[in-house]
Amino acid sequence: MTQPAYFVLNGARSTLILKAEIGTSPSLVYWGERLRDDTDAQSIDMLRARQGARGVASLEVPISLSCEPGTGYLGPSGLEAHRAGQSWAALLRTTDVTQTETMISLTGADDHHGLTIRHTFTIDPHSDVVVMNTSLENHGEQPLTLDWMAVMCIPVQREFTEMVSFSGRWASEFETDRSPIPSGGFVVENRRGRTSHDRFPGLILCTAQTQERRGICLGLHLGWSGNHRMRVDLLADGRAVVQAGEYFFPGEMHLAPGETYDTPDLFAQFSATGFNGMSAGFHDYYHTHMRDPHVAARPRPVHYNTWEGIYFDHDMETLSTLVDRAADLGVERFVLDDGWFRGRRHDAAGLGDWVVDKTVYPDGLQPLIDQVNGRGMAFGLWVEPEMVNKDSDFFRAHPDWILGAEPTPHVPFRNQFVVDLGNPDAFANIFNQIDAILCEYPKIDYLKWDMNRDLSHPGGHDGAASVHRQTRALYALIAKLRNKHSGVEIESCSSGGARADFGILQHTDRIWTSDSNDALDRQLIQRGASYFFPLCVLGAHVGPRDCHVTGRHLSMKLRAATALFGHMGVEADLLEMDEEDCAALKEAIALYKNNRELIHEGQFIRVDDAPWQNTVGVIAKDGSRALYSCAILQSIPHVLPGVMKFHGLDPDRVYLLKVAWPTEVETPYQIHLETYGMLHEGLEARGDILKRVGLQLPLMMPESCLLFEVNAI
Ligand code: DGJ
Repeated sequence: MTQPAYFVLNGARSTLILKAEIGTSPSLVYWGERLRDDTDAQSIDMLRARQGARGVASLEVPISLSCEPGTGYLGPSGLEAHRAGQSWAALLRTTDVTQTETMISLTGADDHHGLTIRHTFTIDPHSDVVVMNTSLENHGEQPLTLDWMAVMCIPVQREFTEMVSFSGRWASEFETDRSPIPSGGFVVENRRGRTSHDRFPGLILCTAQTQERRGICLGLHLGWSGNHRMRVDLLADGRAVVQAGEYFFPGEMHLAPGETYDTPDLFAQFSATGFNGMSAGFHDYYHTHMRDPHVAARPRPVHYNTWEGIYFDHDMETLSTLVDRAADLGVERFVLDDGWFRGRRHDAAGLGDWVVDKTVYPDGLQPLIDQVNGRGMAFGLWVEPEMVNKDSDFFRAHPDWILGAEPTPHVPFRNQFVVDLGNPDAFANIFNQIDAILCEYPKIDYLKWDMNRDLSHPGGHDGAASVHRQTRALYALIAKLRNKHSGVEIESCSSGGARADFGILQHTDRIWTSDSNDALDRQLIQRGASYFFPLCVLGAHVGPRDCHVTGRHLSMKLRAATALFGHMGVEADLLEMDEEDCAALKEAIALYKNNRELIHEGQFIRVDDAPWQNTVGVIAKDGSRALYSCAILQSIPHVLPGVMKFHGLDPDRVYLLKVAWPTEVETPYQIHLETYGMLHEGLEARGDILKRVGLQLPLMMPESCLLFEVNAI
């Protein structure tokens, strides 16, 4: 029986059609709104076929899944491989396709060049997220060097003339940049050896009209914590192609005969309901496919983290007071940050020696853990297992267990070096040390797993570039520890949010979103991160009144409102926090506890805002409740802010609208809100009125935030 040429995957709201005739290169012919089940796929292909054109080849070379050089496609290739300069013009022809309701797996081969390829597409029919990956096997007789391999080459719909990319820096992650897809190519390339602050591996393609609530878009995210490249190429013939994959240093991916390279997963989603629809899909996917069941089963506890409170100045007396004050505020997990291990009185010593510093903790960590547990809190501990200081016993014993590219000098970076996890002895040493700490203190229920430098010269023990190997080894190390200590939650931190991606989130439970606890910056950082990540994984802390990163002085009302829209925590010196701020913080923590199920499980939306405003909301899946946040980030050009529309509510239900935070509102906006009774008894209105007519916001000061709660009557 001959195989069909077209293969269809249907989600609830989208359809993807692949053309994969035996003996030809496979390609995607459609990815867009859900088509009827009786759609004739061939007709789509015919409708899309190029008409006669001048000055180009008489045959249009399709955009195959690998855009391999042997097809004659003249845009950037999705596969660049060779055997010492020979055998470079691969042409992979389909040999077999298998399909289930949710998965298509395609095999192709180029026997002349000794290659076998396997592409897999898996759709989650509930969220519509499609997960793609590819593997390439060298079945030739010579080694193969792989310079580049895109997970997939995806043709971009013609209507998609714009894109949203993500840039940033330390303490300012997830900046969103919207721009036209340029003629030629747009490339995002990351060589930092971690996901990076400045080149997040996510891209959204959209039309000029796409907004948060409406319009079509295709969101793509590479789930990988090493180097990457994403590119969009707009060709002269008007077609555009998007690719994403791992970036390799020269010679890094070398396949001996019989060896296989597996790409990371590329997560993608088509949405016809704007960027919010896309985010809802990614969030749902995380909840159903990545979230650890242990973590899903309990509410996200309020954290206290010691870093911005005491930095390296650990002493039992101060810590003991902090424990009591944190517990009094309603904190549920106390996380001891950097500074607890041998020699770690500053950032130039200690990394690599994961044993408690007896000069600070003469009786170990147990007395502190007991006090924390005694006050009803869980205990978490900071570690940075991939790093080593020269001033450590680890380094003195094994100076060659670090990444480097001798004789090239190391680039100094926070006085630390990267342990070569691809070296099995180094891997075992680090595993044993972290395992020993977890065994010694079984009450550690959380690790904050940090990573604070770029891999500037990532050569491994065999001299080869080693980011790929390092990244896989990191995943294996965490997986091995989790396997043995399954109750321990892990946070992925990398100088803030430099390692936030769906690769690491398959091994960890929370992201430290940013080292900036500046609530104004956080409003936008968290908004940017929310395009892909659900609020339940985004660590968000109430920082000190004078932000340590920006020096800005921000009210507790704003700081607390901002931290509420994430996984809330506190990170400040509680000994210097004044009574008024402590009282307000305690109330905010109680508010978070009352609403965290809604915040973490509800549907999150962003509102298209003026640049001086940030409005977001979460609506319970059954439409019964919602919480909205409206922050005024700077001075506004009008007398009053605009009208706030409560999107996402059930149009037919009657709701009670109230201000949830702050509980005490200063004049002059108090007058306005009290007119509506919104500070106390609440204002009754039907859902359609709240979302279509909305509420004229009261006069709000710059750097302030109101939270509104909406409950169905
Ligand atoms: C960087 C992290 O992002 C901070 O939160 C803190 O843990 C420091 N490292 C500690 O060195």
